[in-house]
Amino acid sequence: MLIGDQNIQSIWYDLETDAVNIIDQTRLPHEFEIITLKTLHDACHAITTMQVRGAPLIGVTAAYGLYLALRKDPAVLEQAIKELLATRTTAVNLRWALQRTEQVLIPTALRQRAAKALETAQLLEKEDIAICQSIGEHGATILKALWKEKQSSKSVLNVLTHCNAGALATVDWGTALAVVYKAAAAGVPVHVWVDETRPRNQGAALTCWELGKYGVPHTLIVDNAGGHLMQRGDIDVVLVGSDRTTLDGDVCNKIGTYLKALAASDNDVPFYAALPISSIDFSAGSDAIPIEQRGVEEVSCIAGIDESGLFRQVRIAPCDVRISNYGFDITPARLVTGIITEQGVFEANRDSLQKLLG
Ligand code: MRU
Repeated sequence: MLIGDQNIQSIWYDLETDAVNIIDQTRLPHEFEIITLKTLHDACHAITTMQVRGAPLIGVTAAYGLYLALRKDPAVLEQAIKELLATRTTAVNLRWALQRTEQVLIPTALRQRAAKALETAQLLEKEDIAICQSIGEHGATILKALWKEKQSSKSVLNVLTHCNAGALATVDWGTALAVVYKAAAAGVPVHVWVDETRPRNQGAALTCWELGKYGVPHTLIVDNAGGHLMQRGDIDVVLVGSDRTTLDGDVCNKIGTYLKALAASDNDVPFYAALPISSIDFSAGSDAIPIEQRGVEEVSCIAGIDESGLFRQVRIAPCDVRISNYGFDITPARLVTGIITEQGVFEANRDSLQKLLG
């Protein structure tokens, strides 16, 4: 991600200082702050408080968390995995990254475990960048084809996205937004409608911020506007990420995604999910996906900066109201036009996705 004249990732390891650095996403878009994670506790805290978020980035942060734990005490592997696994439950990349690191560490002697954990985290970091670029390229072919079809009647290709599936949700580039960035770079005049994504407003705060950095034209809308825009013919394609997708092609993503898919289906708008293969849970169906239920203050309050630039959280609901806060929902495969991965575009069904099992 180009910030000023510097290329910055959402997480990176600094060899000189032996430090793991992240962008504090809870401060964006108002402040750009880099935090150093020094301990396992710091890594767990960063994931639970959503200083880092987005399924692929959570996975890479967890891998670095294991390194930080083993750097202090190489004997705590199992306990550290347990603590990291408990930080967030829906994004399957967390489990995937920890299992992959564990497989490398179990046969490794205690005194070499920290070094091996670091090596693995760095490998996952690098792989994530390459994977996201490849997702972007495969997805861009879809946008190019759509643009070819529509350019005689339209001045821009309109994409709708939900939550943040961009560079900030991964190490760099993103999943759904990598598709946008690659298509824009290939000359498709993309405009993105950005759902604000209540309750945490990842769309308003993060997607708008990074689309601005990439210079992609975009418009922020309230979460309920998508259906109306589709009825008007103002959306050509819906592109979202995923926190966990099943082998049957059901797509679990930020709460509200399902409603966008329903509206897309009703209006013949193609609906694609872009995700790394590490976000596919090959072991279980959608009934087994744990849907995070998050803090009630995310719903009862809203946070931002006031006119003097101070961070504030204000209450928007009565003090004693009962609140429910599901973080994710599941879009059934029948509403999904295709799954864009680093290995190409697949139909959202078992016959197609099981080709990825190799
Ligand atoms: O709760 P978050 O911000 O971690 O959720 C992330 C999402 O749901 C995003 O939509 C994203 O698509 C999945 S990660 C690329």
